[in-house]
Amino acid sequence: MDQTSAKLMLGEGARDAHALLSIYPVTAIGKDLRVHPGLILPPEGSVLVLSIPEARQLLTSPPVAPFVLVLWFRPSEHADPDVLEHAAIAGVLHPDSQPEAVYTVLQAAFRLLAVQSTEDAARMLENVLEIGRALASEKVLDTLLSLILTHARSLTGADGSSIYTRDRDGVLYFRLWQNASTSATASAQKTLVGDYSIAGYVARSGESVLLDDAYAIPDTAPYKFNPASDRAIGYRTKSLLTLPLTNKIGDVVGVLQLINRKNRPGVQLRTPEDIAAHVQSFDARSCHLAQALAGQAGVAIENSMLHADIERLFEGFIKASVQAIESRDPTTAGHSFRVADFTERLAVAVDRSDDTGLRDLRFSRDQLREIRYAALLHDFGKVGVREDVLVKAKKLYPHQIELLTQRFKYARLSISHQAYRRLFELFEEVEHDPEEFRVRRREIEQAVTAEHQRLEQYLHTVLRANEPTVLHASAPQELREVQAYSFPDGDGGVPLLHDFEFSDLTLPKGSLTAQERIEIESHVTHTFEFLSLIPWTRDLARLPEFAYAHHEKLDGSGYPRGLAQADIPVPARMMTISDIYDALTAPDRPYKLAVSAEHALDILGAEARANKIDANLLRVFIESRAYRTGA
Ligand SMILES: [Fe+2]
Ligand SMILES: [Fe+2]
Repeated sequence: MDQTSAKLMLGEGARDAHALLSIYPVTAIGKDLRVHPGLILPPEGSVLVLSIPEARQLLTSPPVAPFVLVLWFRPSEHADPDVLEHAAIAGVLHPDSQPEAVYTVLQAAFRLLAVQSTEDAARMLENVLEIGRALASEKVLDTLLSLILTHARSLTGADGSSIYTRDRDGVLYFRLWQNASTSATASAQKTLVGDYSIAGYVARSGESVLLDDAYAIPDTAPYKFNPASDRAIGYRTKSLLTLPLTNKIGDVVGVLQLINRKNRPGVQLRTPEDIAAHVQSFDARSCHLAQALAGQAGVAIENSMLHADIERLFEGFIKASVQAIESRDPTTAGHSFRVADFTERLAVAVDRSDDTGLRDLRFSRDQLREIRYAALLHDFGKVGVREDVLVKAKKLYPHQIELLTQRFKYARLSISHQAYRRLFELFEEVEHDPEEFRVRRREIEQAVTAEHQRLEQYLHTVLRANEPTVLHASAPQELREVQAYSFPDGDGGVPLLHDFEFSDLTLPKGSLTAQERIEIESHVTHTFEFLSLIPWTRDLARLPEFAYAHHEKLDGSGYPRGLAQADIPVPARMMTISDIYDALTAPDRPYKLAVSAEHALDILGAEARANKIDANLLRVFIESRAYRTGA
């Protein structure tokens, strides 16, 4: 800073220094020599000549901008070492100082000011860079906007600030404001902004607008100030700096507005007098700082929007994939989405819980997203399971039952056919005795009817046994009878029930054979293998591992790896609880009756007592009602 651009100012208590200072070369003092209006903060880069009490007061609340003090010292006054030795003190003058002394002290003051300005610029640059780093690492747009406002205010000393964003079509939205002087608070919003507002003009033109008084805009200006928000919060906007926020290629992605630059950071602007005493225009320094910040903010906003786009795209892709997989088995439609909802709500509740065993479990936003995606994709591997196995609703497949029913029909016809042949033979044998023939014929017909009835009974038995809800401790006697039965076909007999049909129909539980169960269970391994093919970002890196463990049990009895408790990640344990709950309560699975929420929680309770699922997590699942649907 050279001497001609610096300001030399006198405090009230140093008015009588005026005559003495006028001996200093006029070019250095310039037109800026004026009496300092009481003790407000000195403008940037000024040399102040203050009395001891004034200096003491000023130094107790040092401003951000660089300034240098010359003490106006009267012999009667006392100066404590804190004031005399302060780094901002360039020298001391008293009423009988010689011209050489005045000259030397002021020269020293301007030199010190130059050094301070350089240091201040470096410090500010460092601040801006620091802020740039902070902005670049914030991915959530609303948080980012709030950060920009806070930093912009602290860098420039503005009392208030507002931020706007522009969408891909160039439409400008008001998003957020901050104001140190009102108790009103703002939450993130998205309100359309008029073209002729100041922000609208800045977005359209890409030019900054700097106003000393928002209420004194000339009629010819291409924008207008809207006093509505001032009225709404009981405020008075005076100085205003509105800047475009641009991306890397210079497109306007948003607008930053700074309101009422203050001479003291902590002061509140409640009355017109406060405004008059403390609001200053945005000077060159604050404009430069705001511009530097705007450059960083524009790029950060664009990045954050791109990040949100990618996240939306990705989430959309995941949802579409899950829906495609679930469409192979319509009876489980919505299962993955419900499990994801339950698990996410459970994770949020666990994050808030201070219960024993859960106190150390905290999930960041990224971790919650990782858990949600893992839950959404936990059954992704079902894509590798044959569809008829996947949707198998009864112990025998529909085509097997069809074949079996046809066999019963064939048996019925075979029996009839054999009876008619017998009747022909009989007719030849007892042709001479019609009475005998009638009696024997009735016997044969009765026997056929009885056989047909038996077949009907057997078919009924088979169809009943085919239901997965019918559980067997051992093969029932009726079914053994069916198995032992064979019907005539040519010269031999044909069994009504094949061995594999008998064993399938006597499955002790559910609808799946051991082999089919293994195939269904292989979905977990398929899930892991498929998910491992995706190059997840670092914050989603553990997703395959979480999904891989969703059928593991704490006592090691789960599948596919039979993991021990310590090796099952907490997100997987949460998924297990949600998965079991939904499987139990889902109303639309034909092979299994849905149970009520209470009953499902009881069953989960029993699982927890048997150390199969995590009891602490189950408690939070129940207490937080994480399982409620549609919440
Ligand atoms: Fe599963
Ligand atoms: Fe599942």
